[in-house]
Parts: sequence; C-alpha cells; structure tokens
Amino acid sequence: MSEPLLRVVNLEKKFPIQRGLLKRTVGQIHAVDGISFEIAEGETLGLVGESGCGKSTTARLILRLLDPTNGEIYFNGKEIHTLSREEIRKERKNMQIVFQDPYASLNPRMTVRQIVAEPLIVHGLAKDDSDPAVDEMIELCGLSREFGNRYPHEFSGGQRQRVGIARALVTRPKLVVLDEPVSALDVSVQAQILNLLDDLRAQFGFSYLFVAHDLSVVSHISSRVAVMYLGKIVEIGTREEIFENPKHPYTKALISAVPLANPKQERVRKASRIVLTGDVPSPANPPSGCRFRTRCWKAQDVCSTSEPQLLTIGKSQVACHFPEK
Ligand SMILES: Nc1ncnc2c1ncn2[C@@H]1O[C@H](COP(=O)(O)OP(=O)(O)OP(=O)(O)O)[C@@H](O)[C@H]1O
Ligand code: SF4
Ligand SMILES: [Mg+2]
Repeated sequence: MSEPLLRVVNLEKKFPIQRGLLKRTVGQIHAVDGISFEIAEGETLGLVGESGCGKSTTARLILRLLDPTNGEIYFNGKEIHTLSREEIRKERKNMQIVFQDPYASLNPRMTVRQIVAEPLIVHGLAKDDSDPAVDEMIELCGLSREFGNRYPHEFSGGQRQRVGIARALVTRPKLVVLDEPVSALDVSVQAQILNLLDDLRAQFGFSYLFVAHDLSVVSHISSRVAVMYLGKIVEIGTREEIFENPKHPYTKALISAVPLANPKQERVRKASRIVLTGDVPSPANPPSGCRFRTRCWKAQDVCSTSEPQLLTIGKSQVACHFPEK
C-alpha cells in the first residue's frame, strides 16, 4: 500500500499552566492527547468538535507552527516532527494554512498582490509581485485582477477570505490546512467559499484538512470525517458512514444538531433531538476512563475506569465501550 500524503501518529500537545511571578508550572492542559489519522493525496478530511477540543492545536502542530510534546508527523515522505526550523520553512511551500479570521490574518499595509506574491517570493518561485502566477491565482479565487492594487480593509469578509485562500494556494501546496475558514462569514457567503475550495481541489488535486466546529459545514466538502472530543479522536470514517451510521454517542449528538433542509423531516427530527447537557470538562483535568462519560447518556461503570480505544467497527473507527450497532 502506498504511503498517504500525511500520517499523524499518537500526536500529543500539552501546554503548561503557569502561575505567579516566577511562572511556576502548576499543571498541564492536555490540548491534543494522542491522536492518529491519515490524509491521502487529493482527499479532504473534516475535523470537527466543540470549542476547545484541540482542533486548532492539531492544525498548528501539523505545520510545526507549534512543536509537539510527543508523536510523529509524516508528510510528503518526510519526518516533519524531526525537521530543523530551516528545513520546515522550506517544506511550508508544500503545506499552507488558511485561518478563520480574514481580518487578522492579512497584513493591512500590503496590497492584495503583495500579500498573494509573498509566499512565492519567500520560496524563490517568483522575483516580485509582477509574476503572472500572482494575478492568475487572484482570478482563480474569484477576484478581478484590478483588486490586486487594493488593500484588505477595502474588501468584504468573503472577499478577504478569497485573498487568504489565494495566498495559501499560490505555491500550489500539496496540503492545505483550513482552520474554520468560513466560520466568520455569513451563511450565503460560506457556501460560495466552500464551492470555491472544492472546485480548486478538484482542479489542482490539493489535499485539505478542513477544521470546523459544525458538522453541516464539513458535510459538503469532506470525503472523510474525524470527530474530536477533549483532545481525542472518538470516531473517524467516510462522510457517508459518519452521517448515516454514526456509532459514537458524541457523533450522534453532533449529527442530531445539524438542521435538515426539508421542514417536514426537520419537525420529526426535532422531537427526537439529542441535546448535550453539562459543560465540556476542563482539558487541564480530563475525566478518567472515557472523557465523554460526564455527558454521555449511555455511560456505565466501566466507562469511568477504562479508556475506550479507537477500534475498527464496521466501516469506521470508534472509541466507545458501547457503540451503536
Ligand atoms: N498557547 C496556548 N497556551 C495554553 N493553552 C492553550 C494554548 N493554545 C490552546 N490552548 C488550550 O488548548 C485547548 C485546545 O485549544 P484549541 O484552540 O486547539 O481548540 P479548538 O478546538 O481549536 O477550539 P475553537 O473551536 O474555540 O477554535 C484549549 O483548552 C485552549 O485553551
Ligand atoms: S465509552 Fe461509555 S461514556 Fe464513553 S461514549 Fe461510550 S458509552 Fe459513553
Ligand atoms: Mg480553533
């Protein structure tokens, strides 16, 4: 079997909790706690879960914008986790990131053309921003080339996110990590950006890791979906399997919250909706055994003493002692 484009093995990130003037370490936040997954060439993996479950930390670890506490990252035939700063900078030509906030992530003092050209110049692929690849990418992202001379503040949120996408794709990377790229946008604009991303992937064969807190967003764009809870992946499978045959109680609850377009189906579904109660526990002190047990309606004694492992059940991998059949 050929090696996937990205392979993450037991990836872990702990942040120290520091107190007082001397910044004494008094504990640790288990932001990402031993996750493994793969992304094949040309594939989109959706990564979903509630706020604080470790999605952005995972995204940043893969690009080594953060250093892992433990674990391995293999990308494009290289061991990313052992590369030096200089080597990782070179590899970023092949792995780029788009952030949630198109306002904060673009330099307000640079024109759109300068913003999009920068990665090409940094990687020695263009001399300056007059390179034809710059305007070509601006147009591929649905903006007119005249916009190239203007500044980010002159644009709407959706247009700014198109600039962020053009900047990420201009080096023609193999992998693009999209960290909630449409969460800050109006629903109508969200659909346009999702369509643009999917068209560009089909045209150029990019692979995406698409991070979202909402399953309905990833349902359109992902071929596989990974569900994350408190630093762990609790279920991973094809989009069809996750949506039509969810096996982990948490996945079931997330799917139950996705609104249905058909009003009749939506009324029927509302009556049986699973509403998650209680807060997400602190990642500084996660529950023993299964981390979801404090909110799980199926929890039994074994769930507090034994941590469920991610096992293959049917066509998915699920971490639950009592998965749905
Ligand atoms: N630099 C940091 N220092 C300390 N704790 C951090 C740091 N970055 C993230 N965390 C903590 O790690 C946990 C995971 O955060 P992360 O941003 O990865 O979550 P997320 O799933 O992306 O959430 P959101 O949906 O709100 O963006 C959170 O408890 C967060 O407070
Ligand atoms: S292991 Fe137990 S607590 Fe955890 S999801 Fe499954 S049934 Fe619920
Ligand atoms: Mg985040």
